[in-house]
Amino acid sequence: MKLTLKSVQKLTDQISEFNFETPADASHAWAAGSHVELETSAGLRSYSLIRWPNENINHFRFAVKCEHSGAGGSQAMHTLRGGDVINAKNVRNNFELVDQTYPIILLAGGIGITPLISMAVELHEQDRPFQLHYAVRNAESAAYATELQQLFGDRFHLYLDDTNPIDLNGLITTNTDHAFYICGPLGMINAARSLAENTKIPASKIHVELFANTEIENENTPFEVEIASTGQIVSVAANQTIIEALEEAGVDVMFDCQRGDCGICATDVIAGAPDHRDVVLSEAERNSNRVMQICVSRALSERLVLDL
Ligand code: FES
Repeated sequence: MKLTLKSVQKLTDQISEFNFETPADASHAWAAGSHVELETSAGLRSYSLIRWPNENINHFRFAVKCEHSGAGGSQAMHTLRGGDVINAKNVRNNFELVDQTYPIILLAGGIGITPLISMAVELHEQDRPFQLHYAVRNAESAAYATELQQLFGDRFHLYLDDTNPIDLNGLITTNTDHAFYICGPLGMINAARSLAENTKIPASKIHVELFANTEIENENTPFEVEIASTGQIVSVAANQTIIEALEEAGVDVMFDCQRGDCGICATDVIAGAPDHRDVVLSEAERNSNRVMQICVSRALSERLVLDL
């Protein structure tokens, strides 16, 4: 589907909002939690779609943080101007609002606020109990904070790392009867999941979506993957994922989100030490080192032998 960029609006120093028009004849129904996959000049990138109250969805709106140390996708987006056309490959939803019975806590770290805006709007329209918690570095980096405060009043909570940091432990341990939807960087998601596990909140009540951690991307090193069934050795470069390297070598594997949060690419590990960077596996699965998500996770050892 070809999308035409209608407008770009700067929200903070690093974050801009992109508003695309969809073709009149396109089928593009989407719900809260959905993301669109765009073919940018730096490759395929996913962005979570935003809807405000009383809006229809004949547009695709999302916000992108320009990551100068990232892999280039966000920078490519920030070069776009009104009238530019870009190809959208898919609209998917790996982060659906599924818990209908519990009160809900939406927890965002930084640009992870974007899918949670659509969720909060949907819950608000359905008159369902929810709280929206939004943690950012400082007031200048808090995109949409004014709009969210006006819309949701005391259901909206803003935390600033420099003056009023979030108390994740307090938030989770005092709300064990809630379902959680969390979107943010790996550190926040892992901390929240670990607290939830310790507090005996069932894993089925913790829903997460990951935003890539660019600090980790910078530390990537190359390694090798051995395919157990054939003995073939595939080199994974520092700027490649295991899936990308396998595909380049002609090996077909199953995957979907490529962000470490859908679970589809789980692969058994026969030897070697994975460097887990997903948010799907439980702590016990990670510690076992017998399974890994090959879309995002890498290797601590020079070679991994995978059951492929
Ligand atoms: S493709 Fe979704 S976790 Fe790997």
